[in-house]
Amino acid sequence: MKLLVVGSGGREHALAWKLAQAPRVQLVYVAPGNGGTAQDERLANVDITDIHELADFAEREGVALTVVGPEAPLAAGIVNVFRQRGLKVFGPSKEAAQLESSKDFAKAFMKRHNIPTAAYETFSDATSAHAYVEKHGAPIVIKADGLAAGKGVVVAMSLEEAHQAIDMMLADNKLGDAGARVVIEEFLAGEEASFIVMVDGKHVLALASSQDHKRLHDGDQGPNTGGMGAYSPAPIVTPQLHARVMREIILPTVAGMEKEGIRYTGFLYAGLMIDAQGNPKTLEFNCRMGDPETQPIMARLKGDFSKVVEHAIAGTLNQVELEWDRRTALGVVLAAHNYPDTPRKGDRISEIPAETADSVTFHAGTQMVDGKLVTSGGRVLCVVGLADSVRSAQNVAYETVNRISFDGMQYRNDIGYRAAGRKQ
Ligand code: AMP
Ligand code: GLY
Repeated sequence: MKLLVVGSGGREHALAWKLAQAPRVQLVYVAPGNGGTAQDERLANVDITDIHELADFAEREGVALTVVGPEAPLAAGIVNVFRQRGLKVFGPSKEAAQLESSKDFAKAFMKRHNIPTAAYETFSDATSAHAYVEKHGAPIVIKADGLAAGKGVVVAMSLEEAHQAIDMMLADNKLGDAGARVVIEEFLAGEEASFIVMVDGKHVLALASSQDHKRLHDGDQGPNTGGMGAYSPAPIVTPQLHARVMREIILPTVAGMEKEGIRYTGFLYAGLMIDAQGNPKTLEFNCRMGDPETQPIMARLKGDFSKVVEHAIAGTLNQVELEWDRRTALGVVLAAHNYPDTPRKGDRISEIPAETADSVTFHAGTQMVDGKLVTSGGRVLCVVGLADSVRSAQNVAYETVNRISFDGMQYRNDIGYRAAGRKQ
């Protein structure tokens, strides 16, 4: 069978790599893909991004099922279009994707269904937003309502920063429509974890836990990024916490959507903040897998992932049991010069070490130009190491990192430090 993965990041490379391992899968198309998916003979890049043209392609090529990676095509309704045309696709409908595409929708939804999250209010007028911030004080969090490619959240440690963020979004319109409304919410202290599940409309299948590192520099310093590294499992997600998150957050979300007439299908990612007492609250929902969380998660998943997706599309996820590599997988992102601002493109990348039983490198912002691999985006590669402990997985990953180079390469040296410091 032939499959299609929509997207071009490290997440999509990892999804396609995993799907292609099944003996019954002949080929996985990746649209548009990257320099890494271009080189793998079990994968083929397809230079299409328009969702109607993608549906034409899937029909023409007899694609058995499609997995959508990023939020933008989901929010634009790719799943609605594919379904209307009778094409099998895994992802949320445009309506369901509002859990990610509108922070105000997500917050109001959580309030209606008593799902634990930070207290908040939504504003479209700068004067009342400024007044709210004055009343509540800092730290406080300002979030653009719409999709803003990772630039829409300001964790303001001072009132001055909070006022600036409000002006940036509501007065100066710097984020366009995405910032025309803002959610202002209570600052939550604690440790974050990524809780990702697959949903078939009714049943929920949890994937392995993971944790991301959002800041650019070691020790969680510097600007926010899309994610500089991730590992799985995340020891903070104990079996008790796992059960609680399912009971208090995930299952009420799926049931609440159903109650409101929107069946949720697809990956559902709850970004959690876990306080010092171990209580989880929802920071955000994403209607897709995380990037870079997908890379270590897929590196640990055993078995035929295409069958899992098939069950998810058929509504029979209750028949699936996932099997995980017991090792820790730890992924280090190598980013381009000047990331997360405007990253420089076109830097020549050295040879990438071949995949082994304990290490694999997924591509993101890479491109083949005249037979040479060059940088083409902010996050360039994600190097994953697998080993019996977090520290050993760090050693394996960084050993590979040390064999890769390109001008301006930036990465964190401390991916996994929280887990490494925790008793396992
Ligand atoms: P979001 O896109 O909503 O997950 O926000 C991006 C990042 O901002 C999160 O991963 C957190 O690190 C931080 N953040 C978001 N909301 C809050 C909050 N209420 N309190 C503290 N940090 C937050
Ligand atoms: N790594 C965070 C995200 O995918 O949103």
